[in-house]
Amino acid sequence: MYRPSIKEVAKKAGVSISTVSRVLNNSAPVSESLRKKVETAVKELGYLPSNIAKSLRKGKTKTIGFILPDITNPFFANIVRGAEDYLRRKGYALILCNSDQDKEQEIQLLETLISKHIDGLLFTGTGSFNSLLVEKIKKGLKVVFLDRIIEGINSSYVVIDNMKGMNLLLDFLVKSGHRNFVFINGNKETFSAKIRYEAFIEKMKKENLKYKHYFTNFSYEAGYKFARKMKIMPDVIVCGNDLIAYGVIDAIEEMGYKVPDDVSVTGFDDIPFSKHFKPPLTTVRQPMYKMGEKAAELLLKIIEENKFLNKGMVLEPELIIRNSTKEMVK
Ligand code: RIB
Repeated sequence: MYRPSIKEVAKKAGVSISTVSRVLNNSAPVSESLRKKVETAVKELGYLPSNIAKSLRKGKTKTIGFILPDITNPFFANIVRGAEDYLRRKGYALILCNSDQDKEQEIQLLETLISKHIDGLLFTGTGSFNSLLVEKIKKGLKVVFLDRIIEGINSSYVVIDNMKGMNLLLDFLVKSGHRNFVFINGNKETFSAKIRYEAFIEKMKKENLKYKHYFTNFSYEAGYKFARKMKIMPDVIVCGNDLIAYGVIDAIEEMGYKVPDDVSVTGFDDIPFSKHFKPPLTTVRQPMYKMGEKAAELLLKIIEENKFLNKGMVLEPELIIRNSTKEMVK
């Protein structure tokens, strides 16, 4: 796309480049006649000052990067909505990047965002340690981890109390008579799957219950594929997130089982579709919009105060009981 240069503006106005720059940046007094000449030339040429150049001079681009692992998961879409609404109100733009839960892609996206001179980064990582991120944080990149903390990297974060969310769900399932559990969990390298695993094992051992646990990944396909291989149904299949639960329910109903009559199924997140699923899903609600909003607020605080903050925010989960679970006959 042709973009007239500041040199062409100066030539057309019959002034020096520094005069054009003074008029455009209001950086020093200019006579009214010279100002008029420059403004007329800018208008006639359709000249647009380079925002990047202007921003870099100010040391700020008012742009925030956001790297997340799965743009197709409504959980992340709702988080992004909360972050973007807040940033827009504060005059910041958001550059959204999808790592597809792939470490190499995550590194490339981080390099791209750095090259765009972002003012800060919202980061929901694939889970494994990212040495490039550590290097950038050491060089002053402002980061807030959202939903997933990366062990070994010091940074502010906004997560929910995953342990509490799992215990609310498991207490409900034990109280409603479930004794034989299978947990089809998400990606084992992720913070959220790890904490949910720990809560599950602790509860199973404490209540002396029959259980099996499997790490898969946070997707419909993972739930569907795994459930199709199941030969015997437990009392309940606990799923690492709602998408896994959707895949599990579809698979076991194709196999002739009824949910919850033959087996209860639960999810985690409470993405918008879960109350409309067949049957409506019992799950743990994460305050997705608020997570995004609070993370964006924390990041702008760090940027505007220009200081490293190691502040953690842990938001509350909520148990949502629907029709995919039943009262077991004692
Ligand atoms: O649905 C995606 C899952 O991974 C969510 O439970 C969230 O916690 C993320 O970590």
